[in-house]
Amino acid sequence: MASAITGLTDWSETGGRSRRTGLVHGLLNVAATALFTASWFERGNDSASRGRLTAWAGYAIAAGSAYLGGDLVYGQRIGVTHAAIEEPEAFTAVAQSSDVPEGSMKRARKDDVDVLLARQHGRVCALAHTCAHLGGPLSEGTLKDGSVVCPWHGSEFALDDGRVLNGPATQAQPTFDVREQAGAIEVKVPRVDRVTQHRSRPSGRLVAGG
Ligand code: FES
Repeated sequence: MASAITGLTDWSETGGRSRRTGLVHGLLNVAATALFTASWFERGNDSASRGRLTAWAGYAIAAGSAYLGGDLVYGQRIGVTHAAIEEPEAFTAVAQSSDVPEGSMKRARKDDVDVLLARQHGRVCALAHTCAHLGGPLSEGTLKDGSVVCPWHGSEFALDDGRVLNGPATQAQPTFDVREQAGAIEVKVPRVDRVTQHRSRPSGRLVAGG
């Protein structure tokens, strides 16, 4: 039941092929559940052989549904983070310090990496620009005190460590180590993120200043 609720929540925010696949996946799950229930009643009414046949039909439908569920997660990336980051691994300049004045956000790019830069209380924070939920552009969202709100569905992430403050996102937003040197903002992926793609470090470790 819990997975049905979370699946329904994810499905409600999809479109196109993912929405169609999710609909068939859900209907097959309902059909399989109905067949297993019917099988249970048939066995209780002394129709064991018929109950077994009904159960096998349920298994076949459940297998088809499981295949579609795998395609949704691994093929279409529904219900997984959309903010995986792999580069840069060494400090790399992505903007001038003057590009990010106090209380502002900026989208920066280095090679294939989109980075959200935000300056508050004199400190620069850097997160993956693509929302972990379904890929919204965080620089077009709202900067609050200590957090950023995604413009698409309202997920709120802490600036210092990317943790989810408000859903629907369930996975933390990847963050970068930041430093300012010679008037430039430089970022790199923390080692923990390169391995797990998840933030787990204490908030006080962010490097800033200069
Ligand atoms: S894309 Fe859904 S909250 Fe950001």
